[in-house]
Amino acid sequence: MKAVVIHEHGGPEVLRYEDAADPSPLPGEVLVRVKACALNHLDLWTRRGLPGRSVAFPHILGNDIAGEIAAIPAAVEGLEAGQRVMLSPGTSCGRCAMCLSGEDSLCRRYRILGAHLPGGYAELVCCPAANVIPLPESIGFEEAAAFPLVFLTAWRMLVTRARVKPEETVLVWGAGSGVGMAAVQVAKLFGARVIATAGSEAKIENARRLGADEVLNHATQDIAAEVRRLTGKRGAEIVIEHVGQATWKASILALAHGGRLVTCGATTGPEGITDLRYVYSKQLSLLGSYMGSKGELLEACSFFFRGRLRPVIHEVLPLTDARRAHETMEKREHFGKLVLRT
Ligand SMILES: NC(=O)c1ccc[n+]([C@@H]2O[C@H](COP(=O)([O-])OP(=O)(O)OC[C@H]3O[C@@H](n4cnc5c(N)ncnc54)[C@H](OP(=O)(O)O)[C@@H]3O)[C@@H](O)[C@H]2O)c1
Ligand SMILES: [Zn+2]
Repeated sequence: MKAVVIHEHGGPEVLRYEDAADPSPLPGEVLVRVKACALNHLDLWTRRGLPGRSVAFPHILGNDIAGEIAAIPAAVEGLEAGQRVMLSPGTSCGRCAMCLSGEDSLCRRYRILGAHLPGGYAELVCCPAANVIPLPESIGFEEAAAFPLVFLTAWRMLVTRARVKPEETVLVWGAGSGVGMAAVQVAKLFGARVIATAGSEAKIENARRLGADEVLNHATQDIAAEVRRLTGKRGAEIVIEHVGQATWKASILALAHGGRLVTCGATTGPEGITDLRYVYSKQLSLLGSYMGSKGELLEACSFFFRGRLRPVIHEVLPLTDARRAHETMEKREHFGKLVLRT
């Protein structure tokens, strides 16, 4: 098959479009012909290399995959060759107490396609049959590929971890990021008031179109002060954090009494300043969130398949242009998802 392969960590130049061995499904797996694969910021981390996380080279990136079933070695009820599907990006052991409680992403053997396992920057990929989600006719491959990882993440952050309620105010950093674009929609779906941020006038306009009630410019405005102004000094009940070091302090300051700060990422660095006096006197909850379960993704999908959640696609590029897609994400030119099509 053809694939975009990395043989070493580094910049976008290490992405190479070349011939690679066809993968063969293990027992319990299916072989999928990839039609579209979306980028995530995780692809940049994996390409650059993270301390303590080893990748077996040659490695194929790509967490978010949609395509057709090419082969199912052992019959699985409800799945057949040729079926249009998207893939849940996380795999887990399926046998531990966490897995059996529906907490896949707390499994010690949790693995993500394209990060720990071969991914979708390729014509073919294998994954466990349990990760296969049949697609309705109304959903295209590119849209399907743009959905799973970030909507799963936003769903777990808002619904499972922060338990968002109607009329609560949710601050979403970076509405143009994959996570932010999904979080704005999930928060609106649950009846919250959304204050979003973005780093340019064009992205601010896009965030408004996406449904954010208020949009602030994180490059020029004091976000915590603006959130207090917009909430009659109360602050936001929930803050959706993924930017990390550059925004953490403001996230703490933006919270209301009893507020919940949910973090899933550290794009700008892992160290945040936390004034502990705010944490105890305002009784704040600091919550971590990592991916989610297959069940949570299916819940989010039920809204996707009915048109109530819609991934925003910034650009669809051919797989051969994976390098350009990485450069676009690194330069922060995108609003929403970048999708590679095979
Ligand atoms: N734990 C999990 O389960 C999980 C899941 C998904 C993602 N993540 C992590 O979450 C982060 C976001 O992922 P993604 O795929 O959504 O990324 P992305 O699409 O590349 O978006 C990056 C965002 O960061 C914003 N940003 C960058 N520097 C900033 C700064 N100095 N101040 C404010 N905003 C800044 C950008 O805003 P502008 O361009 O508008 O300035 C942009 O919205 C990544 O670190 C990723 O690894 C974690
Ligand atoms: Zn497990």
